[in-house]
Amino acid sequence: MSGMVCPWWLGYFLVNPLRRLYQNPSRILGPYVKEGMTVLEPGCGMGFFSIEIARRVGPRGKLVAVDLQPKMLAGLKRRAARAGLSERIDARQAQQRGVGLEDLEGEVDLALAFWMVHEVADAPRFLAEIHRALKPGGKLFIIEPMIHVSKRGFSGTLEACRNCGFKETARPRVGSNWTALLMK
Ligand SMILES: C[S@@+](CC[C@H](N)C(=O)[O-])C[C@H]1O[C@@H](n2cnc3c(N)ncnc32)[C@H](O)[C@@H]1O
Repeated sequence: MSGMVCPWWLGYFLVNPLRRLYQNPSRILGPYVKEGMTVLEPGCGMGFFSIEIARRVGPRGKLVAVDLQPKMLAGLKRRAARAGLSERIDARQAQQRGVGLEDLEGEVDLALAFWMVHEVADAPRFLAEIHRALKPGGKLFIIEPMIHVSKRGFSGTLEACRNCGFKETARPRVGSNWTALLMK
């Protein structure tokens, strides 16, 4: 885990519609995000996945989208407003020392950590925080880029997950990425 955070201006590249050609949010999230769910998305960036999640959870569900950088959250809020989905999205600023999820303990059905765990300075602490926020049986879906994260680095992340009490249930295929679906 590098603790090196993606610069905010890269957020604009990450929401480029061309990204859908190789990472289609609907196809990636379809099997996991259902109506009425409470979904947590740490490291949401400008919301490439957030908009699809908010659509899928419907009016009875919600998305808690968290990022360290105010400019990422501002981008997400603009996109959510354009899509008419602002009311379903609780956008929060995290700190390096913690995501700030105390009020969500045991409430989250699914957490999506897409291309962000390798940026977290204290991954064991971060994963423990996600674990507390999940319901019993709730899932954490981690996707990490092979281009930045070595096989050994990803094994270290999975070991930190096991140490928090997560059980690995699957390794869904998402292009050239390391993935794991873990259950509380
Ligand atoms: C490479 S971007 C990925 C953004 C988004 N998940 C996507 O796939 O488009 C990583 C994001 O994680 C955020 N981030 C890094 N460390 C974080 C932390 N400890 N808590 C919350 N967000 C964090 C960064 O600010 C950045 O927006």
